[in-house]
Amino acid sequence: MNRIDIPSADRRAFMSGSAALAVAGLLSSTGLHAGQAGAGDAAGAYEPRRGQAGKDVMWIATPDALVTRMLRLAQLTPSDQLVDLGSGDGKIVLAAAGEGARGLGLEYNADLVELSRRRAREAGLIDRARFEKADIFESDFSQATVVTLYLLPHLNLRLRPRLLALKPGTRIVSHEFRMGRWLPDETSRVGPASLHLWLVPANVGGSWELQFPQRDELVTTRLDVARQHFQDFTATVAFRDFETTVREPKVAGEQLRFGLTDAHGHLRRFVGQVVGDRISGSVYDLTDGGARAPFSARRTGTAPPIEGSGPAPQSEAESLGSD
Ligand SMILES: C[S@@+](CC[C@H](N)C(=O)[O-])C[C@H]1O[C@@H](n2cnc3c(N)ncnc32)[C@H](O)[C@@H]1O
Repeated sequence: MNRIDIPSADRRAFMSGSAALAVAGLLSSTGLHAGQAGAGDAAGAYEPRRGQAGKDVMWIATPDALVTRMLRLAQLTPSDQLVDLGSGDGKIVLAAAGEGARGLGLEYNADLVELSRRRAREAGLIDRARFEKADIFESDFSQATVVTLYLLPHLNLRLRPRLLALKPGTRIVSHEFRMGRWLPDETSRVGPASLHLWLVPANVGGSWELQFPQRDELVTTRLDVARQHFQDFTATVAFRDFETTVREPKVAGEQLRFGLTDAHGHLRRFVGQVVGDRISGSVYDLTDGGARAPFSARRTGTAPPIEGSGPAPQSEAESLGSD
């Protein structure tokens, strides 16, 4: 592909928000051809040109204020390993390393990789900020606890199966573009720009043996999660004389939440941590002033795959930009 190729839906999306001004300029500029080198500065050192072509998407740097907000949305801590997919001049990785985290930038353009390494050296961050010349679609980023992206909707969709396969609780933050039908857990608007956060959901599918205290007895019952679509699920809980659907079900990373009305008519809210085939947490009796008790669950069969975790269907790719 010689010219920057933005499918029409992506072009519409790219023309909204923070990218609008940049892209309006970029589309009318002459600097759109792949392979065109960035300008050198007075000393001859490589300096990239805003809007220069990249392998699958051009280079535009995320502004500093948005980088800071992306790291806040990710709840970045020094124990995190951040990976920026298409790391450009390295600024997101360097900002993360500056906050004590480890960062890895994957970038196809070798000049940008060299520039990022130089900036890491100058900032004294080479211990924590690494950069590799790599194609993000061919690279292993499975160790990431935070992933950042500033790509395009169809590229996010292509990456989605691999992002969903990351460890539950991994935070993904995208500048501007969404992830098709996997809706963000939180979106920040900063001026005209949008920043989206997703938490990789734990797989809660299948049947569980659920134990919780109800009045003075420990109830053992069955929780059946019939369908999990990204962070949403539908489930029923069986009691002796009836079964009931759960209300407000949600998976937020490793955390599972749902409510139900128990056999005594008490509204209970379950909040637990999912670790493989086990859940443990607290159940709150909202009819009794929120009294808290422990609950646990054990998966009794296999976990079916999360709906949507495979490659996106053509219909979803075609509807990008309208979601
Ligand atoms: C819009 S820029 C974002 C740069 C940086 N993440 C930021 O937010 O400041 C996208 C970057 O992805 C790089 N890129 C495009 N396709 C790529 C691919 N297949 N593998 C690795 N990098 C790629 C481009 O060279 C460009 O630097």
